[in-house]
Amino acid sequence: MLHLLTWLLLSVPALSAVDDSCAQRPEVTALKNCCKLPNLDFSSYNSQCGQYLVNGAHITPCSFECIFQAAKALNGTSLLMPNIEKMMKTILATDEFVQVYVEGFRNCSAQEQLMIKTLRRRRMPVTGKCASMALMYGLCAHRHFYRYCPDSVWSKSPGCNEAREYSIRCEDQLTG
Ligand SMILES: *[C@@H]1O[C@H](CO)[C@@H](O)[C@H](O)[C@H]1NC(C)=O
Ligand SMILES: *[C@@H]1O[C@H](CO)[C@@H](O)[C@H](O)[C@H]1NC(C)=O
Repeated sequence: MLHLLTWLLLSVPALSAVDDSCAQRPEVTALKNCCKLPNLDFSSYNSQCGQYLVNGAHITPCSFECIFQAAKALNGTSLLMPNIEKMMKTILATDEFVQVYVEGFRNCSAQEQLMIKTLRRRRMPVTGKCASMALMYGLCAHRHFYRYCPDSVWSKSPGCNEAREYSIRCEDQLTG
């Protein structure tokens, strides 16, 4: 689901090929087939954000914004990291996975200004109900999880290792 959203929201050509060896994308497995995602259980937010469920899933900007607000994880456009961690602990059962997501959110918070610029350029709301900032953070942290997928859920094939290496080295974390 998130991948569909990534595609809808962020399908733009990569801004910069960082280095020459990035010009040719290796013909390897897609990263999303290399990491078995843990189950994200949003049900404790359903009383506050259930109206935004689409086919039983939280996938829209409204949903993400609502959950982040309910978790008090956003202050304007900035993340409140202690509450991000609490939110992730509510959603995920395994502490190891929580830590990777939290690390992702921490890393993504450094890209706040870039996210704001990206949304403005697309004329998408940056703040307020149904703004897309929470979704941007979510997608960014999600990509971090794929890249730094814990060993226990990582498929250790050479193709996957190559896909991961390429993604980290060559793809933009927001748009890649
Ligand atoms: C939210 O941001 C404002 C302005 O940057 C700041 O003054 C305030 O202390 C922040 N609130 C929290 C809970 O961090
Ligand atoms: C964190 O983000 C910065 C860019 O803001 C990037 O250069 C760095 O490699 C990232 N680290 C990880 C572990 O993702």
